[in-house]
Amino acid sequence: MSFSSRRPDFRDKRGAYRELARELEGILAGERDLIANAANTAALLFNALPRVNWAGFYFLRDGELVVGPFQGRPACVRIALGRGVCGTAAAERRTLVVPDVHAFPGHIACDAASRSEIVVPLIAGSRLLGVLDLDSPEPERFDAEDAAGLESLARLFLAHVAAPSAPES
Ligand code: SME
Repeated sequence: MSFSSRRPDFRDKRGAYRELARELEGILAGERDLIANAANTAALLFNALPRVNWAGFYFLRDGELVVGPFQGRPACVRIALGRGVCGTAAAERRTLVVPDVHAFPGHIACDAASRSEIVVPLIAGSRLLGVLDLDSPEPERFDAEDAAGLESLARLFLAHVAAPSAPES
């Protein structure tokens, strides 16, 4: 397997996210291991996205979020649902774009350099698997196009790791 070391050109964000989706598709093809795919997804995002100091996963384990594969500085391990940006996005099952983390009540500071953040919940069928989290040292780094782009990458990730959802009993 090889993948390009070239950074997509984010002056065209939509095009860049489309390029990343193609690259991610190639990286995940034929593999369903959660940890392996999460590790490669985090590495791809961290290296491709400009002005990002943390990119990675928290997975739901026994009712709380536990840190998974990531790139960046060591992070807090466990986050309760409803706590911080990650726990809030997970509890509300919606993407949160936080332009200024200092203004977000309950924000959990892992890397003091982080100024803005985006968290995308990972939902397979009706099951919450965890969240995808990215931090930036720049205020207002993420916008609605990043949200749409990262949501589509999250869907691609889920399609490669999540078992088809069983019928609700
Ligand atoms: N800032 C997050 C914690 C995780 S780190 O940013 C890696 C939060 O408030 O949930």
